Amino acid sequence: MSEKRSNEELSKLPFMDNNLDLEKRVEDLLGRLKLKEKFKLSSGTQFFLTKAIKRLGIPHFKMTDGPHGIGPHSSGDSVCTYFPVGVCRAATWNPELSEKFGVAVAQEVRDIGYHMLLGPGVNIQRAPHCGRNFEYQTEDPYLNSRLAVHCVKGIQSQRIAACVKHYACNNQETNRLTCNSVVSERALQEIYLPAFKATACEADAWSYMTCYNKVNGVYGSEHKNLLKERLMEEWGFRGFVVTDWGATQHIKTTETCVEAGLSLEMPTAIKYTYKNMRDALNKGKFTEQMLNENIRRLLRVMFLTGVFDDPSTIPPGSRNTSEHQAVARKIAEEGIVLLKNEDNFLPLDINSIKKIAVIGPNANKKMSRGGGSSQVKPPYEIKPIEGIQEKCKGKIEIVDTPSEADVVIYVSGLNHRPHKDSEGSDRKRFHLTTSLLNRINQAIQENPKIIVVLISGSPIGMDWIDKVPAVIEAWYPGMEGGHAIASVLFGDVNPSGKLPITFPKKLEDSPAQIVKDLEVNYDDGIFVGYRYFDTNNIEPLFPFGYGLSYTTFTYANLNINKEKMSENDTIIVSVDITNTGKRAGAEVVQLYVQDVECSVDRPQKELKGFEKVKLEPGEKKSVSLELKKEDLSFFDEKSNTWKAEKGIFNILIGSSSRDIRLEGKIEYVG
Ligand code: BGC
Repeated sequence: MSEKRSNEELSKLPFMDNNLDLEKRVEDLLGRLKLKEKFKLSSGTQFFLTKAIKRLGIPHFKMTDGPHGIGPHSSGDSVCTYFPVGVCRAATWNPELSEKFGVAVAQEVRDIGYHMLLGPGVNIQRAPHCGRNFEYQTEDPYLNSRLAVHCVKGIQSQRIAACVKHYACNNQETNRLTCNSVVSERALQEIYLPAFKATACEADAWSYMTCYNKVNGVYGSEHKNLLKERLMEEWGFRGFVVTDWGATQHIKTTETCVEAGLSLEMPTAIKYTYKNMRDALNKGKFTEQMLNENIRRLLRVMFLTGVFDDPSTIPPGSRNTSEHQAVARKIAEEGIVLLKNEDNFLPLDINSIKKIAVIGPNANKKMSRGGGSSQVKPPYEIKPIEGIQEKCKGKIEIVDTPSEADVVIYVSGLNHRPHKDSEGSDRKRFHLTTSLLNRINQAIQENPKIIVVLISGSPIGMDWIDKVPAVIEAWYPGMEGGHAIASVLFGDVNPSGKLPITFPKKLEDSPAQIVKDLEVNYDDGIFVGYRYFDTNNIEPLFPFGYGLSYTTFTYANLNINKEKMSENDTIIVSVDITNTGKRAGAEVVQLYVQDVECSVDRPQKELKGFEKVKLEPGEKKSVSLELKKEDLSFFDEKSNTWKAEKGIFNILIGSSSRDIRLEGKIEYVG
């Protein structure tokens, strides 16, 4: 019988029937694949596609960057919404907004006819100089997990696969292809893996991208312990693992990757060439069952994303809609952090100011087309100066010279050039360059009524901070950034962003630095970010969780529903928040847990709950947060398990990690 089937014949095969159970469809298609077709499906083509298998009507499965919008490489250079970067989204502390972002970006993926988004990026921001901090979310594993879970749920609600990356410990760009992250089991469990685990267990993420680097001596793409044992067996992951692009180049054998559970090698075959696969299989280095399991995972995601289904049955796509642009703007508005506001210098009063100077190296700069694989080509990008000009039109004159102006808005920070905030290299300096410092100091000298707006994905040294009355961190705020910045400066939006990372005073204060050697020892262990600053009593410039508002909030009536907590209890911690100022605003109520006495070193405090609450002037709301045994636990390396020790735990409720407003306690009785 001829092998060649007509389209009509193909459409009648069982796997094409979308009324059939998912696993039956997967098994049916897997059973029809010839060995060489399985080899073929294991690696990519044309940089972002899997290979098509015409005989069975298997089309290309299409993947696109990246974590804050579709890359021009996949959109055929046509325009797509440029959302704020990961760290800006994290600064909103708003999981619901993270989910809305996920929905919107997935609709754009669908619209270009693709199936998977290469994001979110959830590597921990360990070292302030990491070139990709802007793409990642935070230094804190709890915040990281909550935001990533919602982001993945949003993406996959549209039947687009999320690809959580880069698994794991890709925390610097220097030597990223070959370096070895040497990290303790406790730090993996408590800091580096939680967001990966949460997206598998709570959001059923359909794909993970391996890291380039080694983790404890083994490359990510052949890491049986990280992939097969943890992700798949322990966390119940049912999707597939893809390499980072070219991540297998330094790996020695094909079989270690197959055995580890790596389904797809991108962008092209290195270890998974036909010859390598055939030889290793023939020599018994891996079994066809192992290969089948890897292919089964890839096929499963193809079915989940509707690759074989009638397009009318899958969620429709859309791109560059006003709704998506509104999501981009909302994230920017909620993610901008007001760092300093002496004597309520901000918001600016549009009716009393006559002239504003908008200057500085980033005032007139677009940021979308840089940074590496995460670049986006948006239909427009409102630069800071444009947003301010639009706001001031007909009311305030925009000038270039500080001395002429009533107020100066100085936009500085970083950009996506190599060794600034960019993939493939790390930052070289913590402070602005001498020429940028000279420029900022000169502007201050000419007119000290100056607001510094920082555009950056990571903390910058701010020696000049005492000389200026106001500073805002605007991150890379996406295509609507200029509008969002103007809204915050003029008070149309009351800032509610909180730092998802600690801003050190000087680089040496930070627990981790970029390492030039191939061995990157994570000597800081679990003491990453504020966990380190708090424990070592180092005062940061701005602490984790910090961010000012144009209004004020009071915290009262802390209530913990039980004094004693046993193993299966859920404790409810509630607190009343009142907006005591004159403007509507939002506060992020943060719950930290402190283990008073423990057999191992623990951080002074750890974030275990938060909620963003919006309040009108004078309004009061009660916020309730839950605590479970796992929120009191640490990873015990001796017994190789999570453990909560009996005793007292302080419950700290604050407006930042260093602004604790109320304290209570519970006794864990086991
Ligand atoms: C990056 C990934 C990206 C991939 C495809 C790699 O260099 O590390 O994050 O998704 O390229 O562009």
